[in-house]
Amino acid sequence: MNSIHAAQRRGITFQRYDMSQARQLKPTIEMVYRASYTEAIARGRSCETVESFMGRFERHSAIADLDLVIAYHVDEPIGQIWGWPLHEGTREWDGLIPEPDEQFTREDGTRTFAIAEIMVIDQWKRKGVAHALHDFLLSARREERGTLFVEPDNIPAHRAYERWGWFTIGQLQPTWEDAPLFDVMLIYLNPRECD
Ligand SMILES: CC(C)(COP(=O)(O)OP(=O)(O)OC[C@H]1O[C@@H](n2cnc3c(N)ncnc32)[C@H](O)[C@@H]1OP(=O)(O)O)[C@@H](O)C(=O)NCCC(=O)NCCS
Repeated sequence: MNSIHAAQRRGITFQRYDMSQARQLKPTIEMVYRASYTEAIARGRSCETVESFMGRFERHSAIADLDLVIAYHVDEPIGQIWGWPLHEGTREWDGLIPEPDEQFTREDGTRTFAIAEIMVIDQWKRKGVAHALHDFLLSARREERGTLFVEPDNIPAHRAYERWGWFTIGQLQPTWEDAPLFDVMLIYLNPRECD
């Protein structure tokens, strides 16, 4: 993909990790968060503190089919992204407004890949790193569609997602403590094969 090749030409490499490997990466994950969410951390909202983020990562790194990618420049981690496929009984869509029909929310572990986090450290923002991370992660996925949540006032992220083909399908407030209201976005990835 162009975005990946462009990043590689700048000396950026990508490394994929599964759940057990991700658990060993906590110091790296925290360092990249601190250097990517500088403005948000300074804003001081309880859901954006380092502790709150690492608490969420603790839960994410317990998900068996977690798929995580870190971008490195030389040996320095400069960005990260992760997510997982949704399974039957997921609460991902709970509270979505407008309320979707049953067919839309039906999950079986192969239909929808949910991106949980994407971030790039400040010095590397606006250089195509997030785009390349996004394409690297999703190019290996076989799900029919992707979903992610983004805060309505996160203009850089909204712009990026729209540029990459995502569209907003509604709004939702997740069940985790202090969760803000999010726009819910969707992208079509791979057409479903006939049964
Ligand atoms: C959102 C984020 C991941 C984008 O990372 P990035 O590496 O700078 O993104 P890219 O360089 O791949 O940019 C892709 C496109 O996004 C849009 N974009 C990115 N930053 C933008 C900004 N500050 N203002 C407007 N548009 C922006 C542009 O359309 C850009 O393409 P262009 O540079 O060719 O115009 C980064 O700003 C970040 O880490 N933010 C903090 C964490 C965060 O909010 N994550 C998303 C949570 S939902």
